[in-house]
Amino acid sequence: MCGIVGYIGNQDVTPILIDGLKRLEYRGYDSSGIAVYDGTDIEVEKYKGRLSVLEDRIKERPIKGSIGIGHTRWATHGEPSDINSHPHSSQNGDIAVVHNGIIENFQLLKEWLMEQGYHFRSDTDTEVVAHLIDHFYQGDLVDALIKAMEKMEGSFALGIISSKEPDKLVAVRKDSPLIVGVGNGENFIASDIPAILNHTRAIYLLDDMEIAVLDRKEVKILDHNKNRIHKEIFRVDWDVASAEKGGYPHFMLKEIFEQPAAIRQTLKSRLMEKSEEIILDQIRITPEDLKNINKINIVACGTAYHAGVVGKYIIEELARIPVEADIASEFRYRDPILDQNSLVIVISQSGETADTLAALREAKKRGARVVAITNVVGSTVSREADDLFYTWAGPEIAVASTKAYTTQLIAMYLIGLKLARIKGEISGERYRQMKEAVGRLSDQVQQVLNNADVIEELALDNKNAEDVFFIGRSLDYAVAMEGSLKLKEISYIHSEAYAAGELKHGTIALIEEGTPVIALATQNRLYDKLLSNIKEVKARGAYVIALAKEGNREVEKTADRVIYIPDTMDEVTPVLSVIPLQLFAYHIAVARGCDVDKPRNLAKSVTVE
Ligand code: AGP
Repeated sequence: MCGIVGYIGNQDVTPILIDGLKRLEYRGYDSSGIAVYDGTDIEVEKYKGRLSVLEDRIKERPIKGSIGIGHTRWATHGEPSDINSHPHSSQNGDIAVVHNGIIENFQLLKEWLMEQGYHFRSDTDTEVVAHLIDHFYQGDLVDALIKAMEKMEGSFALGIISSKEPDKLVAVRKDSPLIVGVGNGENFIASDIPAILNHTRAIYLLDDMEIAVLDRKEVKILDHNKNRIHKEIFRVDWDVASAEKGGYPHFMLKEIFEQPAAIRQTLKSRLMEKSEEIILDQIRITPEDLKNINKINIVACGTAYHAGVVGKYIIEELARIPVEADIASEFRYRDPILDQNSLVIVISQSGETADTLAALREAKKRGARVVAITNVVGSTVSREADDLFYTWAGPEIAVASTKAYTTQLIAMYLIGLKLARIKGEISGERYRQMKEAVGRLSDQVQQVLNNADVIEELALDNKNAEDVFFIGRSLDYAVAMEGSLKLKEISYIHSEAYAAGELKHGTIALIEEGTPVIALATQNRLYDKLLSNIKEVKARGAYVIALAKEGNREVEKTADRVIYIPDTMDEVTPVLSVIPLQLFAYHIAVARGCDVDKPRNLAKSVTVE
């Protein structure tokens, strides 16, 4: 997620901007920059890389001023580079803009502006905003911004300064957070509270389409008709550490609760509500290409691999193409049978995992076409694959992957539906049903999260468990793998996931009095089988927590406790059933005093073999 800071007051603005950007580093970024009005012009310094690069350049070339904007960029459109960094300026440099969000119709606007004679220097969507405001500027910056907003579609939090009106800092938000800090003779904007907490605790929390106009004396908040809005000041009582986590105690919990937004963002501009189309504009597999594809390998590590196992079931069922899900460190050494008729899908949140990268290169060497699903724009995996699907989950800071996993599942559904439709393997009715079910997931995940307290209580009952078993069939087995990994990696409790039908072939010998068994029973077509499996383990003394769809209450007669998820199609339940398992692992780990965000022995991205 990009970070925004802005200041207008009587202090030297540059150190305030740099310090504010440093306090936003935790959000993850690949470049940074500032724009300062120095009394004559707007000076811009912006560079790819860590903030220290920007700081060093500013030490060489100091910029003095008392109004400015700063930005840390998490690349979405245009890979990380100096020129793609923010702030972006109008043609003659008298307007500078920083932006967080995605201007979805930027390509159309860019073409229109070029017809008006504008020249673009970057590949970003944000540069369009600077030229649009310039185009509409006729003496009033707020009027020009309002006219520009009428043209823009998508999400934007904007900070704007102009040398034509140097005593004004203008900001606006739409579907991307932005706050205003109120000081004494000085005022601030920021994308998040930590950036300005050491200057003020008096905050305006902007709502969508509200425009803030800051000068050294006051803050005016306007609606898009320039009517003044009265807002209450919000007084922040967090310390800086908890402010970075948005008030959550850990990044992992924050990211678990960010999943509805992450899923919505990943679906946006891909799952069209008003049309049958699923738009995957960075996957250019044509019907001709698809005719020749006779095998798909999904290759990844850890949680990403578990998303791939769900993908195997989904893509095989929808597109009727044989699919194998492979652990990357195995795939790369097993002399895989691949050729130009093979499609390999690699999944990697970081886009830098060594084993997954090696598997990608092995696949390409053998002639396969490679699609990469990744959360990091410009990552190595994204640059070496033939086709791309970016999950728009935003930076995932906690080592334990949560929102990346659920948005990877979204990628699996969209790719599966797209392939099925191109191949003509799916009826119109079933396609529409699946598409609608995927479109409801963001709200349904929120419904599960609203029930988080029940799961916390269940978790605390099991915090001293020594061996926990996760069982399920088909897609439930795939999710059981992920639930088991979550528990192991953050609570250090031994756990295993088993195909429920496999228990009687040996592992049921491990079940003793009180052994906790998490039984996933969300697949309607296999519900009765799971009920039998639950009876099997209960008969040996297990303590069973079942997951089932609302309405399937038979399981209450057998299981000790039941967690219900909203009713939906079997195929899309993994996105819902994983949420209680994430929370279960999280609360047990916290109760056991574990370092939830940075578990022992683990790294966020395993860039070595
Ligand atoms: C997930 O909770 C783990 N931290 C780990 O298994 C992770 O999923 C794996 O290392 C793959 O990382 P990647 O998605 O960045 O490639």
